[in-house]
Amino acid sequence: MRLIIEKDYKNISKWSANYIAHAILKAAPTSAKPFVLGLPTGSTPIGTYKELIRHYKHGVISFEHVITFNMDEYIGLPQDHPQSYSTFMWENFFSFVDIKKENVNIPNGNAADLEKECLEYEGKITAAGGIDLFLGGIGSDGHIAFNEPGSSLASHTRMKTLTYDTIVANSRNFNNDLSKVPKTALTVGIQTIMDAGEVVILVNGYKKAMALQKTVEGNVNHMWTCSILQMHPHAIIVCDEDAIVEMKVGTVKYFKEIESANINPATQLYN
Ligand code: GLP
Repeated sequence: MRLIIEKDYKNISKWSANYIAHAILKAAPTSAKPFVLGLPTGSTPIGTYKELIRHYKHGVISFEHVITFNMDEYIGLPQDHPQSYSTFMWENFFSFVDIKKENVNIPNGNAADLEKECLEYEGKITAAGGIDLFLGGIGSDGHIAFNEPGSSLASHTRMKTLTYDTIVANSRNFNNDLSKVPKTALTVGIQTIMDAGEVVILVNGYKKAMALQKTVEGNVNHMWTCSILQMHPHAIIVCDEDAIVEMKVGTVKYFKEIESANINPATQLYN
């Protein structure tokens, strides 16, 4: 696991967007061999999306041959609902880049047969050749996508019931009205994320500090599903100074020293 400690949210966003841009450029995707990108929603990735849009507008990267798979979607919320993850993705990212509509995949939380939808979603990922890079965020309880505490670490796309903690956290987008937050969602599984070629997880702020500590210093444990990242051959966590406050000084020092020897992909792509 790599732990990239950046000064603040702005720098996390720049680092991760530059890393993704470099990965796409290196892959040099074509229609025959597209780049497959897994994507999250939430407030955390918004800065990364803004940076990716900026890179696109500067002509540095194109999403023409990029296929995306979103991590999750609420069940039962109309697709055009202001808080659906589909709306979020179009409003914060897809509408501003040259991605083809048919290359965007988001689980359909309104499918008549949700189990079939989940199986088909996994099938689409496989048919696309697997996910090259999965970008993600983290919940305060350590969930990735909607893999809440106690989720199977071997899980694939399926329906999950949200924990009370997550409903409270997400109610900020529903006028703080808990009754309006959907109680269930479709989510990729932990194994779906683990099958990706690389995983980049963004963590910022004090409220994620405990989850980050469990991810980096804790044991692999289904109560902190993020801890599975220790088992991924190419996992990168990009965090800010606020998020590291629960970790040991020695752990922080260790990762900072290791990273100081690495070439920083956040070096400018252009002026
Ligand atoms: C939701 C999403 C997660 C996301 C988490 C944190 O539960 N399903 O994918 O990581 O929220 O969101 P935020 O980035 O707003 O803190």
